[in-house]
Amino acid sequence: MKKTDDQMLVIFGASGDLAARKLLPALYQLFKGGFLPENYVILGTSRSPLTDDEFKRKAFLEGGYVDPGKEDRQQMAAFAEKIFYEPIEGYESDYSGLRDRITGLNESHKTGNNYVFYLSTPPGVYKNIAEKLCEAGLSDESQGWSRLIVEKPFGYSLETAQALNQQLLQYFKESQIYRIDHYLGKETVQNLLVTRFSNSVFEPLWNRNYIRHIEITNAEDIGVEKRGGYYDKSGALRDMFQNHLLQVVSLVAMEPPLEATAEEIRNEKVKALKSIRIMKDEDTLRNNTIRGQYVATEIDGKQVKGYREEEGVDPGSLTETYAAIKFYMDNWRWKDVPFYVRTAKRMPTKVTEVVVHFKSTPHSLFIGANKDNRLIIRIHPDEGILMKFGVKVPGQGFVVEEANLDFYYAQLPNSRVMEAYERLLLDAMQGDATLYARGDEVEAAWKFVDPILDFWKNGNDVRMYGYAAGVWGPEHSDALIDGDYIWRNPCPNLADAPGYCVLC
Ligand code: BG6
Repeated sequence: MKKTDDQMLVIFGASGDLAARKLLPALYQLFKGGFLPENYVILGTSRSPLTDDEFKRKAFLEGGYVDPGKEDRQQMAAFAEKIFYEPIEGYESDYSGLRDRITGLNESHKTGNNYVFYLSTPPGVYKNIAEKLCEAGLSDESQGWSRLIVEKPFGYSLETAQALNQQLLQYFKESQIYRIDHYLGKETVQNLLVTRFSNSVFEPLWNRNYIRHIEITNAEDIGVEKRGGYYDKSGALRDMFQNHLLQVVSLVAMEPPLEATAEEIRNEKVKALKSIRIMKDEDTLRNNTIRGQYVATEIDGKQVKGYREEEGVDPGSLTETYAAIKFYMDNWRWKDVPFYVRTAKRMPTKVTEVVVHFKSTPHSLFIGANKDNRLIIRIHPDEGILMKFGVKVPGQGFVVEEANLDFYYAQLPNSRVMEAYERLLLDAMQGDATLYARGDEVEAAWKFVDPILDFWKNGNDVRMYGYAAGVWGPEHSDALIDGDYIWRNPCPNLADAPGYCVLC
């Protein structure tokens, strides 16, 4: 096990939902697993005037995200002992009270002048926090180390992302900044690298000579829930595509890194992102992008609201809840191979997967379902890998049928898969930025996304298609895919054939 230095984790925006829902439960799991160092402190801060005990109760003990019925009370109490809280007046105001509390706890708990600052706040105050921390001497690394974890969204456009990068870099060095993308914390997303670069059967085929197209689906059955206010200003492209899905694309498309280090892996990822062909003219943008919005319907006898009826959403909103994009990469490996990536809310089920479609055999010999080989990498649920290949139907002649070769994570013995936030927090605590997005990656992703957003907002003849909540998107969404191919509309179970599954 890698060593974790003694340290203090300071969570900004600690009275918010993310701390209770994800951060503290993840830290508790790390504590139980023995991953936290001997000397550590978790200090929450935000504008809510809470005491240490009130914060512990609200965020950890009463949050409902750790089930006290199933946990060892003593262990929970031991973990809670090192949780503290210090209110601040505002993110732009004076941090001297917070600084004194931090230095006091650092001395009393021997945290070695090592700090992780986690910004779980509205993005508008990231710069202020970085600046105030720097003024308070807390970004200085002469006595220990200091790291800044920044939550998404990282920018709202290329320009705002560049501005934010520049602002943060005034106060922290790039090596101190950890831009979180929780998809990179998923075991199955990391496994994309291992599948590709530790198996000699896949990598030789992983290029334009053998692959016809790549398809990525990210679907959620839920709608925007209570986040209508945020989502309406964001939309599917900013919320999921620019960050999580382009990160997945970069892992699918990148060249082999020189070695498995943060620097080398991220060098290759950024090269892949930069090679995505930017769509410039309106015809290209119109023909290669589809946006949609879910409309009200009845599912299983229950009335489901349309997006425009959701709380916090403008009734005339033109924000997309469905986005499907076709694009190409301008490099040797991927020349002329289309990538199809879609993301949406209120689909029939929650699923994320990558489908690699291999080209057909050059000359067809047999009769029957002589389908192309497909490798399906399931990110969630039913995490695993499925290879579709042709087998002979027993009997006379050569009739071919499609068969499955599959692997499931659940079959691995003793494999407790760390939650994404556990993994990412631990990595930042250990100074490993491999699974964090670098500034240039984020900017390269925005460079591709910006013209699409601009076209959707200001272009001529841009359609917003409706789709009934609970179906696989707008009616003509298959038209995006070249040839006789359609989207694989997957079932929750990896190996179930689309169209023959029970959804819940
Ligand atoms: C978040 C988005 O980043 O990812 C949400 O803001 C989305 O809208 C969520 O629901 C999906 O994450 P996961 O891990 O459940 O696929």
